[in-house]
Amino acid sequence: MSIDKNIIESVIEFSRNAGNILSAGFRSEKTVVSYKSRTDLVTNIDRESEIYIVSAIEERFPAHSIVAEEGASRDGNSDFIWYVDPLDATNNFAHGIPFFCVSIGVYSKVEKSVVCGAVFDPCHNEMFHATKGGGAFCNGVPIKVSGIVDIGIALLATGFPYAKNDMGKNNLTEFGRFLPNIQCIRRMGSAALDLCYVASGRIDGFWEPLLKPWDTAAGSLIVQEAGGTVTKYDGSVYDLEYPQILASNGNLHKQMTDILTKTQA
Ligand code: IPD
Ligand code: CA
Ligand code: CA
Repeated sequence: MSIDKNIIESVIEFSRNAGNILSAGFRSEKTVVSYKSRTDLVTNIDRESEIYIVSAIEERFPAHSIVAEEGASRDGNSDFIWYVDPLDATNNFAHGIPFFCVSIGVYSKVEKSVVCGAVFDPCHNEMFHATKGGGAFCNGVPIKVSGIVDIGIALLATGFPYAKNDMGKNNLTEFGRFLPNIQCIRRMGSAALDLCYVASGRIDGFWEPLLKPWDTAAGSLIVQEAGGTVTKYDGSVYDLEYPQILASNGNLHKQMTDILTKTQA
């Protein structure tokens, strides 16, 4: 499928501009933290970034639908849905930790898949992007997943959901199963960047139990276009609306699904 160049260029442009909004608010007195729940933070900068992205999409693509994390969504009558995370890793941002991003993925109802996406990390000035069938890139340079085949030397990443006080969903069972079998685990705090790090071969795999489409729309395409594999924990076809994700360099996928679906801890 050939994807409208205007859409791809806009995804990249809006991600970069929103990233600049995040940079301006980072470690700044103008940032105000509030709480969606006791453990789920949001800042005025998340909202500022989202207002910018949503109005930019509405102006350039008035018929497109938008699903944005902080609620500024709209229904359009075209083929496309924009999934927007205006600030992924709000916790890092609010604590002054320089590891967060903007993530925008565009889904086609006709194709039944994400067709392009970008993840911009303003602290490291890294723009990851991909188009379906067109490859994955970091700052315009093609990227690919790692080549390792032995999970014993794999560096993996994961995340813990805000609902982590629910024992059934806190990810500790899966964490405990992986740890003795691999080189090590990182919890970097941004699911979208975790996926881009799998895509660029910096880490070898990533799993997380409770994510939303705005966390994964762009990153899941970027991994696949970099030669990796993205599924549910049991290896079945990935679905944006389904909360689990497993992404790997492909070689490790079976070893990871075996660990994740083991019936005993
Ligand atoms: C969160 C981050 C984090 C993941 C959480 C997400 P947010 O997104 O991606 O890495 O573990 O599950 O909710 O709330 O900072 O946009
Ligand atoms: Ca997020
Ligand atoms: Ca967010």
